Amino acid sequence: MNQNRRRFLVAAGVTLAATAVPFSARSADTMKIGIIGSGNVGSALGTTWVKAGHEVMFSSRHIEYDQSLAADLGAGARAGTPRQAAAFGDVLLIAVPYGALPDVGKDLAGLIEGKLIIDACNPFPNRDGEIADWALEKGAGLASAELLPGAHIVRAFNAIGAARMGSAYQEPGRIGMPIAGDDDEAVAVASRLIREIGYEPVLIGGLEMGKYLMPRTALGGERSAEEIRQIATDIQNEAKR
Ligand SMILES: NC(=O)c1ccc[n+]([C@@H]2O[C@H](COP(=O)([O-])OP(=O)(O)OC[C@H]3O[C@@H](n4cnc5c(N)ncnc54)[C@H](OP(=O)(O)O)[C@@H]3O)[C@@H](O)[C@H]2O)c1
Repeated sequence: MNQNRRRFLVAAGVTLAATAVPFSARSADTMKIGIIGSGNVGSALGTTWVKAGHEVMFSSRHIEYDQSLAADLGAGARAGTPRQAAAFGDVLLIAVPYGALPDVGKDLAGLIEGKLIIDACNPFPNRDGEIADWALEKGAGLASAELLPGAHIVRAFNAIGAARMGSAYQEPGRIGMPIAGDDDEAVAVASRLIREIGYEPVLIGGLEMGKYLMPRTALGGERSAEEIRQIATDIQNEAKR
């Protein structure tokens, strides 16, 4: 264990013996993850992926903040611009207000083609304006795909609170994570990253089902994987009627 990582664990108040394997499914293969938007969601998930052994680059429009976040985490974390994070990541997490997504899509043009993007963003008209009305009409998954052309989108982390995203690993598999995506490989990689930080991924369908991954919907809140499967089946049966 290098000194930076040791310092982080000590700073986090975690005993080294207890954290020799802090995650039940500690990653065998390190992945590079670019975080676009390092607020509540981006910082929580990025931090927990660093703890799981991945390399993470945090980004936002304020690099000083990202540098400070990365410095606190030590080895495995770094900071960059959104374009640098997009180039760095094999996988990207986008966690910005939906109103920023059109700009993010333009900013990252040429860098996201063919990449897996985990889309945590939710459209709220009060916060995000007209783009949110459009996204709600179209369905959040399909709307994100249009704003981030060429990327393989998997919607996830949309309907649970950011405050607990960094602690699910303490009870692996207790909480299910509904996800939606069209690309099998992207879904498989996203599922692995989700499982590694303690959630049991449940594919509820393709991106058109992404509209059901929103707070205050039937799938919102913390539920077991079994409950999520049942709710998703009910939604699909209802849609067929
Ligand atoms: N909070 C939750 O519990 C929760 C749970 C699930 C999903 N979500 C959804 O996840 C998204 C993020 O939520 P949050 O609570 O993490 O928001 P937040 O704390 O406000 O963080 C948003 C991040 O996006 C960055 N950002 C804004 N505009 C940007 C741009 N044009 N380019 C690059 N970065 C930009 C912000 O930094 P700068 O302003 O410095 O650029 C900040 O780092 C939202 O769509 C939200 O609805 C939130």
